[in-house]
Amino acid sequence: WGYTGHRTIGQLTENYLSPNAKASVKELLGDTSIAEACTWADEARKYPELKETANWHFLNVPLGLSFKEFKNMVDTLKQANVYSALLKAEETLKQKSITKKQKTEALKFLLHFVGDIHQPMHVSRAEDKGGNTIQLNYEGKGTNLHSLIDTKLLEHGGLKFDSLALKFSKISKRKVRRWQRDEPIIWAWESYKISSELYAEVDEMKTRNIGDEYYQKHISMIELRIQQASIRLAGVLNEIFKDVNSNE
Ligand code: ADE
Ligand code: ZN
Ligand code: ZN
Repeated sequence: WGYTGHRTIGQLTENYLSPNAKASVKELLGDTSIAEACTWADEARKYPELKETANWHFLNVPLGLSFKEFKNMVDTLKQANVYSALLKAEETLKQKSITKKQKTEALKFLLHFVGDIHQPMHVSRAEDKGGNTIQLNYEGKGTNLHSLIDTKLLEHGGLKFDSLALKFSKISKRKVRRWQRDEPIIWAWESYKISSELYAEVDEMKTRNIGDEYYQKHISMIELRIQQASIRLAGVLNEIFKDVNSNE
């Protein structure tokens, strides 16, 4: 996602945090809001000492895998990727004997990667760099499939992240419970299924021009993935910080 997507996720996540989780996150982030902290990992990848983290934002596998094959392949990927980075950040946050600075960094990575693993084009094919090399036109400008799903559809309406979070905030208790039961491998699998569909669709398109019907068809998927990322991020944080003294 772009900054709008990540910030919308952070803002929406706030609504679902337990008092404990809220206090622990605030203690780690200080004056920085969750929404703001959600984009830090995209800055961090530009720092020379953190440039190896660029691969942590996505994972690439071939199309056509069954769930079993997908899980097996993701579990044994040699490259660090969004799935392994997410699990590692979660593990780090649960450790007792690390510094506050290390915890804060792990939290900022976690806030970002729960978002990215829900972006369908971040669980995608290597040969087109997750759709980055699939050129398209949208709103009179050149773009690509990756960017269309990262930012262009979400930002089409011109709303800022706080308005988007409000717009996406009606989520039934039943959905919250159901989504929070799923493990991260399921989050990745859902993205994989959606990206497979998005690839098939552009393959069949007779034109490179993306029109309003594409927006109308896909905007509810974008909304769903942002809602699921937010709800699941809150679930993970509530679990990590369920112990009152976890942050002492
Ligand atoms: N962003 C940059 N490279 C990517 C890739 N190969 N897959 C998904 N997202 C990416
Ligand atoms: Zn992206
Ligand atoms: Zn990212």
